[in-house]
Amino acid sequence: MKPRLPVVAPPPAPIPEAAPRAGHRCPMAMEGSRAFLGLLVSALLVGFLAAVLTVVWALRYRDGLGWDGGSAEFNWHPVLIVGGFVFLQGIAIIVYRLPWTWKCSKLLMKLIHAGLNTIAMILAVISLVAVFDFHNAKNIPNMYSLHSWIGLTAVILYVSQLLVGLFVFLLPFAPPSLRALLMPFHIYSGLLIFGTVIATALMGLTEKLIFSLKNTYSTSPPEGIFANVLGILILVFGALIFWIVTRPQWQRPKEPSLKLLHPNGSTPEGAECSMVTDCSNTDKTDVEFNSEVAARKRNLNLDEAGQRSTM
Ligand code: HEM
Ligand code: HEM
Repeated sequence: MKPRLPVVAPPPAPIPEAAPRAGHRCPMAMEGSRAFLGLLVSALLVGFLAAVLTVVWALRYRDGLGWDGGSAEFNWHPVLIVGGFVFLQGIAIIVYRLPWTWKCSKLLMKLIHAGLNTIAMILAVISLVAVFDFHNAKNIPNMYSLHSWIGLTAVILYVSQLLVGLFVFLLPFAPPSLRALLMPFHIYSGLLIFGTVIATALMGLTEKLIFSLKNTYSTSPPEGIFANVLGILILVFGALIFWIVTRPQWQRPKEPSLKLLHPNGSTPEGAECSMVTDCSNTDKTDVEFNSEVAARKRNLNLDEAGQRSTM
């Protein structure tokens, strides 16, 4: 009888994406990154233009900006809402998607995400103080309109989202299981609030035009057209942010080493708390770029539960 030879496991199959020729980038990744860059630049331009046009509207067509209980004080309301609550919130939502930040520690990105959202919240609250102050000074009733009901609800939900985000995802108390459980709700409610903010801004814009221009609005005066264009820019900004943030291929990759150690998708306690930031690095090499694509593909398989490394 022949002695049985030990069974030797075959060598692992090479991962094609991870072994590119030097100087040759994966064409699909290149396509994706070009589209991403185009959308990002468009979103930044459109959002910034909307914020600038709101200031121009206040200065050129309304009574400017001031804090005197008059209409100049009211004007801080749209200015801070569009520049802060709409534009900054939109940027905060997509910071995780910027590919050149994927080398930065998750903690740093969380601080940027939370920091931008906090600034947006502060500006939104100041804008509410301006409009309430204006109403009280002019003896205009408070909270009668649909705009004000939905707007105040959005701000309250936003503050709650921020607090839950801070306690669950930033401070090191919540266990990974709780983070995993809450992440889909965090993303859903974040997008819902952002959409509601855009809708509320459009409602407020229309209200203001009808109040100020009265019957002349229907004759398409320059201010009416100007503010209509502003509304379209706000909507387009929202649409671009939505597109960027809902593309699975532009999602921040999981940390491969952590994910391979924890194929169930859980992040080890404290693993993301090292403030290792290497954001000043030069461009990724082709090999790094392609192994990132390969790591992402592996992780997509491991990540069936839809959990994110970042929780
Ligand atoms: C998401 C963004 C916005 C939120 C959360 C918001 C919130 C509010 C709230 C709570 C009030 C009620 C104030 C009171 O009753 O004393 C109000 C009033 C008002 N807002 Fe806004 N607003 C937003 C955007 C805008 C924008 C972009 C404009 C454009 C000019 C605008 C125009 C007005 C006007 C004309 C009023 C007075 C009439 C009313 O109470 O409906 N709002 N807003
Ligand atoms: C009102 C404030 C906030 C809003 C509107 C908001 C909204 C969002 C949205 C829409 C996403 C999805 C982003 C994506 O898929 O790329 C997200 C992801 C996330 N947010 Fe927030 N967020 C807020 C506050 C916070 C705070 C305070 C933290 C604490 C650090 C936090 C931590 C996270 C984390 C860890 C992710 C997952 C990122 C990933 O890996 O893809 N958020 N947030």
